[in-house]
Amino acid sequence: MQRAPASAHDQRPPVSTHEAHRALLSRIESRSARVGVVGQGYVGLPLALVFTEAGFSVLGFDVDPKKIEAIQRGESYIEHIGADRVRRAVAAGKLAATTDFDRIAECDAVIICVPTPLGEHREPDNSFIHCTARAIAARLRRGQLVVLESTTYPGTTDEEVLPILETSGLKWPDDFSLAFSPEREDPGNERFSTRSIPKVVGGVNPASTEVAAALYGAALEKVVPVSSARVAESCKLLENIFRSINIALVNELKMTFGRMGIDVWEVIEAAKTKPFGFMPFYPGPGLGGHCIPLDPFYLSWKAAEYGAFTRFIELAGEINTQMPRYVVRKVAEGLNEDRKPLKGSRVLVLGLSYKANIDDDRESPSYEILELLREAGARIDYCDPHFPIARKGRKHDLGLASVPCKADVFAQYDAVVVATAHDSFKDRALYRDVALFHQPPRPRMRRHTRRSKRSCASAPGPGSSPVPPDSSVPTWSSTCCGSTRWWWGSTTSPPARGGISPMSWSRSRPSSGPASAWTRATSGMPAPALGPARAQTWCSTRQRWGRSHDRSRTRARRTK
Ligand SMILES: NC(=O)c1ccc[n+]([C@@H]2O[C@H](COP(=O)([O-])OP(=O)(O)OC[C@H]3O[C@@H](n4cnc5c(N)ncnc54)[C@H](O)[C@@H]3O)[C@@H](O)[C@H]2O)c1
Repeated sequence: MQRAPASAHDQRPPVSTHEAHRALLSRIESRSARVGVVGQGYVGLPLALVFTEAGFSVLGFDVDPKKIEAIQRGESYIEHIGADRVRRAVAAGKLAATTDFDRIAECDAVIICVPTPLGEHREPDNSFIHCTARAIAARLRRGQLVVLESTTYPGTTDEEVLPILETSGLKWPDDFSLAFSPEREDPGNERFSTRSIPKVVGGVNPASTEVAAALYGAALEKVVPVSSARVAESCKLLENIFRSINIALVNELKMTFGRMGIDVWEVIEAAKTKPFGFMPFYPGPGLGGHCIPLDPFYLSWKAAEYGAFTRFIELAGEINTQMPRYVVRKVAEGLNEDRKPLKGSRVLVLGLSYKANIDDDRESPSYEILELLREAGARIDYCDPHFPIARKGRKHDLGLASVPCKADVFAQYDAVVVATAHDSFKDRALYRDVALFHQPPRPRMRRHTRRSKRSCASAPGPGSSPVPPDSSVPTWSSTCCGSTRWWWGSTTSPPARGGISPMSWSRSRPSSGPASAWTRATSGMPAPALGPARAQTWCSTRQRWGRSHDRSRTRARRTK
């Protein structure tokens, strides 16, 4: 591997390991250390800004010249990262960006924030990490600290990055420090920022932990040192696996409770009142984002090397990955109620982002939902103000542009699927021709079937609001892809026949009638108000169950 031309740093007289270590700690303390951040994406850019805001001079590296040019112009290319932050950092001379990797030699610490996707067969793809480690090794100099932040399986830092860095000719632990520190970015979350989220740091030896912890401690509010890089790597995976499994659990319960006529949302709201031992997770249309759908499989893959099997991870993956199909099935069922086949129906999906109010569509289940709908013969469109054009990805190429977010546009569709609860979809006026209401529990009554069909669901009365007022918005704990509310929507301009079920209502409508809608909304979408119609439905459902139980008890008594 080619080494870069000797930098000013290479000209320094050799110093002992101890001296180099102390010198770096003192440069960190005085904020004169220069920090390099490789990968200026959703993780790297905010991290770079946090270091500049703590007084450090930061050099951002990326292979994407467009990002580098944008930073140099003082612009942000990530919606939730304010352009003013970038502008301020650049104007103050604290932030610069480059595609020239020779400048790594200028940095005292180099932090790696490059992607860690899955390969075609869901195997970890660490090629971006390896490539970056090779680029660093070619310029590595004595006394530098290298920190890996990209999410990966335990052992990547000491088994893979360390040997690559040693190809520089420098030897660990004498010549450089190496640590892992997982990123816990939650894009769009206003409660927590890169600065305020505690940072776990684990070095490949105690000296590396010390210097990495000192660096993060100088810029972030809280650092949590751990005994090794492997513990830090595992910590990140535990966090994401925990979420993936809990989301899968609640997805399964949603389907199960749904069959039993129980509203999972109400169950969660009730369970949430327990002040200990319970943490709410919410069902959704599938997993999205760069982390939860991918990271757990990094551990499964690595565990196999040790002959260990991660059954929870596999099971959660199985349940979560089937959710887009569940959504499509529900759309088909909804249209069926309206005597319409999915094939040929016009279906609009609202939202391409994997979560509300961000411009990140990586792994978003909306793509799969749209493709499945298209495969089934539906005429699909999407609406997302964050994505005027649906990006061509590694897996998806919809070839669609967003339709305008307007009521008269929504009214043209046979079904509407709210896939992401962007604030822009919360304007009630948008739904003036789509009467939305919460799908009431529909119990499977073996007896009294005809009776329950008549009374188990109610259309909203005239003037009822499709999207309930904001006062009913619960403050969902925001989780990527997990926070979802489902609505059953029905047709426009409901005839003034309060108390009839969507089924009987759609049967009574002419087949040329307007749209029905199956909708979902993610975190932050207003909760459906328990309007009189729904409250009445719930009561009648319970009364029926009560009666049926009473009868069976009476029968049991008689038999005795
Ligand atoms: N996005 C999140 O919310 C989040 C949260 C926690 C952890 N992570 C983890 O952080 C890592 C980075 O994620 P991200 O969301 O910032 O990804 P991203 O795709 O937004 O950014 C990665 C950046 O790295 C650049 N890049 C790719 N190869 C490079 C190379 N060889 N040299 C230099 N730059 C290169 C890309 O051009 C891109 O700008 C991943 O491992 C991810 O799992 C992400």
